[in-house]
Amino acid sequence: MSGEAQLEALLEIINTSARQAIAEYKNRGNSVPTLDATEFHPLDFQEDTVALKKAVRLLEGACQQLCATLAPPQHTVINFAQSYDWACTGVAIRARIADILDGHPKGIHVSELAEMVHFEKGKLSRIMRVLASKGCFTEVDTDVFANNRLSLILKSSSNPGCLVRIHAQDVSQGAAVLYETLTEPEYATSYDPDKAPLIYALKKKGLKGSFFDWMKEDDERRESYHRAMIGLGDIMGSLSVLHHYPWDTVSTVCDVGASIGTFSLPLAKKYPHLKITDQDLPEVLVQAKDVWAKDAPEALQGQRVEFIPLNFFEESPVHGKDVYYVSANLYSLLRNIIHDWPDAEAAIILRNVRKALAPHSRLLIHDYVLANVNRKSVAEYMGADVAPEPMLPNFGAGNSRMYQQDLNMWFIHNAKERTLADSIALGSAAGLRLEKVYDLAESAVLEFRLA
Ligand SMILES: C[S@@+](CC[C@H](N)C(=O)[O-])C[C@H]1O[C@@H](n2cnc3c(N)ncnc32)[C@H](O)[C@@H]1O
Repeated sequence: MSGEAQLEALLEIINTSARQAIAEYKNRGNSVPTLDATEFHPLDFQEDTVALKKAVRLLEGACQQLCATLAPPQHTVINFAQSYDWACTGVAIRARIADILDGHPKGIHVSELAEMVHFEKGKLSRIMRVLASKGCFTEVDTDVFANNRLSLILKSSSNPGCLVRIHAQDVSQGAAVLYETLTEPEYATSYDPDKAPLIYALKKKGLKGSFFDWMKEDDERRESYHRAMIGLGDIMGSLSVLHHYPWDTVSTVCDVGASIGTFSLPLAKKYPHLKITDQDLPEVLVQAKDVWAKDAPEALQGQRVEFIPLNFFEESPVHGKDVYYVSANLYSLLRNIIHDWPDAEAAIILRNVRKALAPHSRLLIHDYVLANVNRKSVAEYMGADVAPEPMLPNFGAGNSRMYQQDLNMWFIHNAKERTLADSIALGSAAGLRLEKVYDLAESAVLEFRLA
């Protein structure tokens, strides 16, 4: 394809995919969102967002590719290095700017806002301007800012906001010392969880152990982390799986590393026939029981959910060989778990889960699935979506969150997101065979059974 033909093709993809996204919004809410909207659109927190995410994946990928092709290269590359959006977002969220602006649709002048949060007004105004330039907050009049659909995500009641805060406040500390961890001998070749870049930074402040030891230390930090896990599901559109997996044919689910029921609680609400076992560290299950009592008391009263503490390195989840679970045909679920661990630890978890599976059982691994960026590798995608030419086959910037998440897992845990080939190899070493891939446009569910 000639250079000009490539540009025309990208423009066509942008046009078509934007129209698909518009149609999705109209279908669900009879209206399209605008940048200065002051409420969420009815589609924003729908469970099944596969169609919208497919359109936006093409749109974001093609837009970035078009800009990277047409802008001067020095302009594009400096954009990579000098994006301080995370720092500005971190300030807005820690100072609770979106909470303060709530109930003020006409906005608040930055002088008044600065007084309320005890910042110097000129400095706050520059931060607000950076964010408003990216569409987060609206400058309704000179130096007067109001909330909009994007800034609502930064309210303290928002679960995705909890994840934004973890990135801006904590993960960024790991990112800042990445070079040091690549060069200091003790860290450079290590894949131990307690040699992750964030842990390198936190050790200087007295932390002993790894990320989950740090979580154990502080109830408030842990509560916020588990709310962030609900937010991560919202960001990834993970609840789409409620609509794209045949849950009607399943009777028993063991959610291994279930957090506070981030997935199993909506699952129990949508499929009341399911018997659910939630397993996680004991301190997490204390918080989980409170959440279920508040949000799904009917499941507790109907004894449709049980909570069994588990350390998945030391023992197997509830056993598929137990009479009850064999007859109930146990399905085990690992959502956003394997990506938290380097290969050696991931292999132990999978071996322990495997011991709990009966012949008819399935293990569902729900994570991101990475792909290489050249067209020669497309054969390895094994049925997962491939972007049309001239786009990069892995959708480029259209899938940026999963490649950033791969780095997050490195910074926090010394772990990683995996390609399909990586997951097949990991499963096979634990005696598991991949049966089917459910591509949910951003994340994917890999269905394994005993090999
Ligand atoms: C990234 S979160 C994922 C939570 C949930 N599956 C989800 O998708 O929202 C990882 C979970 O693993 C749990 N976890 C960490 N170490 C564990 C261990 N040794 N045994 C059992 N669970 C553990 C954490 O408490 C946390 O709930």
